[in-house]
Amino acid sequence: MVPPSLEDNFEDILQKARDGLGLSMKALSEQSGVTPPMLKALFHGDYDKTSLTAVAPLLQLDAESLVDIAEGAWSPQVHTPEGLWQITSPFGKGMTVHAYLLKIPNSSEALLFDTGTSLEAIKAILDKHKLLIAAIFLTHTHSDHIAILKDLLEAYSKPPVYVQANEALRGAQVFKEGDSFTYPPLTVETRLTSGHSPGGTTYIVHTEEASIAIVGDALFAGSMGRGFISHKEALRNNMEHIMTLPDTTILCPGHGPITSVAEEKAHNPFIRGAS
Ligand SMILES: [Fe+2]
Repeated sequence: MVPPSLEDNFEDILQKARDGLGLSMKALSEQSGVTPPMLKALFHGDYDKTSLTAVAPLLQLDAESLVDIAEGAWSPQVHTPEGLWQITSPFGKGMTVHAYLLKIPNSSEALLFDTGTSLEAIKAILDKHKLLIAAIFLTHTHSDHIAILKDLLEAYSKPPVYVQANEALRGAQVFKEGDSFTYPPLTVETRLTSGHSPGGTTYIVHTEEASIAIVGDALFAGSMGRGFISHKEALRNNMEHIMTLPDTTILCPGHGPITSVAEEKAHNPFIRGAS
């Protein structure tokens, strides 16, 4: 099987880190010794190992992990547990977004995390497994993650919708950092992973088989979401609220493949660069 490709390639990672740190190309060139034309080419995706290795530490990125990503040498190897479905739908030009469905054991209901853009894709899984939606949890309110919320509420007799208080949304109930929700035998814990958005939330659910964290755009396999609010805050939250979870925790990002805490500790240039 061909592994699902990562959300960000090495030049996306470089750009996110440089924007996050507010470092100019001129300063980066002077400090790394990489000439301005070579640096420009690198940021446009022209891979050169020596240049990449020289700039990585200045961008607080782990060079070895970044080289592996540039050379296509790594993608996360994670087994998706029973009763968890990643639902991929198109968004914008050539992009996709994921929603996740998690079955509540011994019931005919599931929890939905984000909506993505395709009602049909969600309906297909619910119908196939004869499930209804018990509740909808939003990781954040960027349009690709809530695109069909209204349609879902109409199609599934208005299940409750939950969102963190910093991103209050009409029709959704707000919660505060650390609140939790119970759907026996599941408990949904919340951790604030803001920085990409003001109320970005990671939902942690322990099933019999695994611990699962739905992280939204806080973290991607091998990368992280853009720090629209604050890159520093986003990275700090990732370190404190996601990377402190047990290594076996399965991470479900809003874009790119499913990963795990262990995989990111070993291969994410941002995480390794901040460790
Ligand atoms: Fe987002």
